[in-house]
Amino acid sequence: MSFRSNSIRLARIAGSKAIASQTQKRALSALVNAAARPTVARTSGASIVQQRGLKQINFGGVEETVYERADWPREKLLEYFKDDTLALIGYGSQGYGQGLNLRDNGLNVIIGVRKNGASWKAAIEDGWQPGVNLFAVEEAIEKGTYIMNLLSDAAQSETWSTIKPLITEGKTLYFSHGFSPVFKDLTHVETPKNVDVILVAPKGSGRTVRTLFKEGRGINSSYAVWNDVTGNAHEKAQALAVAVGSGYVYQTTFEKEVNSDLYGERGCLMGGIHGMFLAQYEVLRENGHSPSEAFNETVEEATQSLYPLIGKYGMDYMYDACSTTARRGALDWYPVFKDALKPVFNDLYESVRNGSETKRSLEFNSQVDYREKLEEELKVIRGMEIWKVGKEVRKLRPENN
Ligand SMILES: NC(=O)c1ccc[n+]([C@@H]2O[C@H](COP(=O)([O-])OP(=O)(O)OC[C@H]3O[C@@H](n4cnc5c(N)ncnc54)[C@H](OP(=O)(O)O)[C@@H]3O)[C@@H](O)[C@H]2O)c1
Repeated sequence: MSFRSNSIRLARIAGSKAIASQTQKRALSALVNAAARPTVARTSGASIVQQRGLKQINFGGVEETVYERADWPREKLLEYFKDDTLALIGYGSQGYGQGLNLRDNGLNVIIGVRKNGASWKAAIEDGWQPGVNLFAVEEAIEKGTYIMNLLSDAAQSETWSTIKPLITEGKTLYFSHGFSPVFKDLTHVETPKNVDVILVAPKGSGRTVRTLFKEGRGINSSYAVWNDVTGNAHEKAQALAVAVGSGYVYQTTFEKEVNSDLYGERGCLMGGIHGMFLAQYEVLRENGHSPSEAFNETVEEATQSLYPLIGKYGMDYMYDACSTTARRGALDWYPVFKDALKPVFNDLYESVRNGSETKRSLEFNSQVDYREKLEEELKVIRGMEIWKVGKEVRKLRPENN
């Protein structure tokens, strides 16, 4: 499939996009001004009156409130958390990203991990100091006012009976996934009734949380409140979301967060897209196409040319940027794919909603040898022809030569 070579047309599209985006910006700024209102931050002692930049945005006909980093400038964060110790438990993907961002934001953050495990060593390499801001899990929880539970979901369930008694009144419990409290019948994570329980779920890996922060950008995250005993739980979650490196935050519930997250990663984000790549590649190979041709027409062009266009400008722009032949075929075939796949997505959603996916995940990830078993499955993927071909194709990219 080829791009249209008509650069004038592309320039025209880009021009009209720019005009559209200016119009959108004007509309947005009118909404922002309408929504902007003075507010008083919760601080012990001083009251900070400041103009909030929260936005009411019409997403396809549905009004939603979005909170932005501008709502929580660094000085306000420092004031808000000045009496707090943020005890971040677990130093895996999210612990690394959120922990270093909190530290760089100047907040009082400590790490709690099991001594001498892989995370303990990784934390020391990142400059956390034993006895200063790196402790065993229980010690960190005792010191913390915010307990940020960033253990793996299976570990949250395994360790809950020892952690729970340490989460005493006055502390705030934080998660980055609704998994443990929502599926409490399976995880046994019954949160204390007398503490605020909040969630901030970055929509990306911990590495991305860190990289975007360092670039002066920010990850998009959702936030939710499970338990609001102080009346400040929403504000605490919004503040922490910015403190860990979010650029903007939208509100959800614990239930919706876990359902959409498990569903998405099994679908278009990972499982579904992998299945679709494999199916397309196999049919090309069975019809006599060479590995390089099959890979280029399935993965390379998708990830290098077309998907970035969807990400940057939208699906309609991607269609418009392609040849009339490609466009006609895609317009005819996307409903066929949608109709074929929708029953699978319905089954998947049900499997998430009724807890089957949680059960499977807990059972698998709680095994002592889960890392080895996972490695075996990844070895199978690594050994597939399509992904071996990918390795060679990537080497051919001029920037990799
Ligand atoms: N990764 C993502 O992309 C992502 C995105 C959004 C939200 N989340 C959520 O963020 C939370 C953390 O996920 P993650 O991916 O950062 O986790 P992870 O990388 O799997 O981190 C696991 C951490 O848990 C510790 N751990 C594992 N088993 C333990 C046990 N039995 N006792 C004590 N510690 C144990 C590990 O310590 P050792 O090194 O000592 O084993 C490590 O510090 C989860 O709720 C997840 O759903 C993740």
